[in-house]
Amino acid sequence: MTRGDKLQTRLFHVSTQDIEDISIAFQQEMAAGLAGQSSRLKMLPSFLKKPDGNETGTFLALDFGGTNVRAQVLELLGGGRWRECNRRAYPLKDSQGRFDYISSETKSEELFDFLAELVLEVSHGQECSLGFTFSFPCVQNSVQHAELIGWTKEIKTAGVEGQDVGRLMKEALIRKGGPRITPVAIINDTVGTLLTAAYKNPVATIGAICGTGHNACYFDPVKGMIINMESGNFATLPFTVYDDQLDGNSDRPGTQRLEKMVSGRYLGEVVRLAAKDLFDITAQPYSLSTETVAALIGDYPSESIGLLQIENDQKARLKELAMDIVTRSAKLVTACFLGVLRHVDEQIKNKHTIAVDGSLYEKMPHYREIIDNTLIEMLGSKAQNIKVGLVKDGSGVGAAVAAALASK
Ligand code: GLC
Repeated sequence: MTRGDKLQTRLFHVSTQDIEDISIAFQQEMAAGLAGQSSRLKMLPSFLKKPDGNETGTFLALDFGGTNVRAQVLELLGGGRWRECNRRAYPLKDSQGRFDYISSETKSEELFDFLAELVLEVSHGQECSLGFTFSFPCVQNSVQHAELIGWTKEIKTAGVEGQDVGRLMKEALIRKGGPRITPVAIINDTVGTLLTAAYKNPVATIGAICGTGHNACYFDPVKGMIINMESGNFATLPFTVYDDQLDGNSDRPGTQRLEKMVSGRYLGEVVRLAAKDLFDITAQPYSLSTETVAALIGDYPSESIGLLQIENDQKARLKELAMDIVTRSAKLVTACFLGVLRHVDEQIKNKHTIAVDGSLYEKMPHYREIIDNTLIEMLGSKAQNIKVGLVKDGSGVGAAVAAALASK
């Protein structure tokens, strides 16, 4: 075993005791945030309850989360069923550099005019209520008003922070004319995921995203509503020197520390920083994508691995390192889930569903089984009460369900 291998094994390992400690710290931060005390968890009220599954009607859904924007017309059929009538999606940043709606040079009006045009394009002249999934931390004082606290996921559009995105959307729709489209609900993508799961199955407790970003929400029975925790900002964690380097070079050092350890936007970069130091692999910052990490771990053919120009033995070591970092991601996420489960059900006596959306959970080899196995490691036979599953399209269907709940 070389020095690098030893370091690597010790560095990214998350022990059973670590998971226990993280889950306890997470639970404490939840309680502090709910009590209005200082906390890394924002615990943002959504002003939405869980649906009963019988919500019906046709709604527009707009999903803005970072990389792409998508608008849909969805018909909720009741009984947890729905039908998609129309959809359009566009990237927010052109690969040829012709437009970039998420850079600091773009003004909020330009971004929201682009969103409004998309909504009008799919609505085909129909008057409709709009559910808007806006996947960033927002303070809400009602389901229609959501003030952006600050961008995450390295988005920088000017003039949106501190503003009510419901108002920005409404004003852009008026500027663009057309039929009356009324934004009636603004939700986080985690809330959309939980609403979608609960539309079909009321035992849904947690909604989470393991994708470009990471965050979770849950239904709080005492508050009687869904709370967006912004858990990507949690920070009672075993940081390595590479996590500190990544954070130091990011747009907002000190924020979103869990997200920077676990999510797709950053995972490849953690691997690159560690590989650079441990085995002298040279690659530009952020050139090792999380998709490449998935190809490496899953042994898929990938051009981007070829671009790294590494020998086979180095490739094997890089694969092992990548697997350690991916395993750490899934274990940290599970530790936080445990904190939430204990908050709502101390002894975990009841059945709970954890609905997860996002490319990391969906596509990263082994990710799901690590989460399931970690629950068994921590809860033994009680892990049978917990079902973690993929819920796709939460940002679309969830926005429609939210619009239905808000129009009730
Ligand atoms: C970031 C955002 C959060 C969102 C998550 C997943 O963490 O701050 O609101 O839910 O990404 O998209």
